[in-house]
Amino acid sequence: MTTTVPTFELFSPHAADHAGGALAQGGIAAGSDGYAVLSYQLATEVLRNPRFANSALRLMEEFGISNGPVHGFRARSIIMQDGAQQLRLRTPLARFMGPATVQNTREVLTEIVHGIFDDVDDTKPVDFHSSVDRRIPSLVYCHLAGAPQSDAPKVQELSERTLALLARDPSLKPDILEAYDELFQYLQDLMQRKRQAGLGEDMLSHLMTLADDGKLTAQELFDEATSMLEASSVNTGHQIGLVVWNLLSNREVWREIVADPSWIPAAVMEALRLYPRTGVISKIAEEEIEVGGTTIPAGADVHVAVWSANRDPERFENPGEFILGRERNQPLTFSTGPHNCLGQGLAKVEIEEVVGYLARHYPNARVVDDATTITQTAGRWTIKQLTVETGTRAEDTHDI
Ligand code: HEM
Repeated sequence: MTTTVPTFELFSPHAADHAGGALAQGGIAAGSDGYAVLSYQLATEVLRNPRFANSALRLMEEFGISNGPVHGFRARSIIMQDGAQQLRLRTPLARFMGPATVQNTREVLTEIVHGIFDDVDDTKPVDFHSSVDRRIPSLVYCHLAGAPQSDAPKVQELSERTLALLARDPSLKPDILEAYDELFQYLQDLMQRKRQAGLGEDMLSHLMTLADDGKLTAQELFDEATSMLEASSVNTGHQIGLVVWNLLSNREVWREIVADPSWIPAAVMEALRLYPRTGVISKIAEEEIEVGGTTIPAGADVHVAVWSANRDPERFENPGEFILGRERNQPLTFSTGPHNCLGQGLAKVEIEEVVGYLARHYPNARVVDDATTITQTAGRWTIKQLTVETGTRAEDTHDI
């Protein structure tokens, strides 16, 4: 297995000093690509301050996408709004992301996870990323949006191709634009199909009803649907893989989980802390703002290094260690403040169900290190390849 040492080359001049935690000399560092916010306390401060706007729109503009429908969508999308408009867009979605829906999704998810593993040939090492973790989130999205499960591969592909923007690679621009066109077209078709079949109780039907009742404009409905689809799959797929990789690699922890699956939520949280898919959340200072004694000028790029904040020794004792019963374990993996991840409850349940299935059915599962590559690109932890030897399948002894 190759675990590349995370680098902050895109924005931090202090990568060498970083050594896997907050900078010894302070929680914030300035470099040629803006500021890197490294400590838990300052990261929290920045993420909770609405005067720091999301950098996704600027990233598009840097790629030369400065007008047209894709730019328009991004400028209007929930992640770019604040105050009343953000609340207006967030409230209808939040209704489907609360504990009741998440609990209901857990039941559907059990079926989805069983179905996925039924397709897996466990007599040989399993290519976990392509055959398990990547496939689950889009199936869950289809359930939420009331789309047929056969649409899942398309949803997965569209989420991956649109959010490729965050890889900060301008050569991807033509594909990103094409992917958004396909996504818009897909959603138009889906909404038409739903109208023909009659609206139901799902999230997309709810948004469509709000628009019919004049509570959302037609444009807002479309933007909401687009935001949810793009956010639904790619991060969750990688995060499931990262957690599975971390837990299976840590044999002592894995044995505890197998012996007592009630540890699973705590174990998932600890793995989310150590290996956050969104290792960096990039923002822009909308005005001059002081952070930790540093004056950040208006317009500056401010990169919140979640990966670092989650390992800040001031906030987490022995931060590099996996501690199953860690107290006050609130990593910033799903951000915090007004834009905290709407899908986090859902994503956690997806991860817990996969881990639970493995613990029950494949207690001897192991990562094949030589055929596994985990990297960090532009601050995001990424599964390049994850190979798992499942071992003999066990009887379903207990439910989690
Ligand atoms: C493990 C998987 C996921 C990770 C690591 C993740 C991470 C994040 C982060 C870090 C943010 C906040 C960005 C900021 O502060 O500017 C965010 C926002 C958001 N996420 Fe997630 N996410 C995940 C899964 C999901 C899923 C499954 C959905 C929906 C089905 C979703 C929907 C959203 C939405 C709509 C927002 C914008 C919220 C707002 O602006 O108010 N996410 N996510």
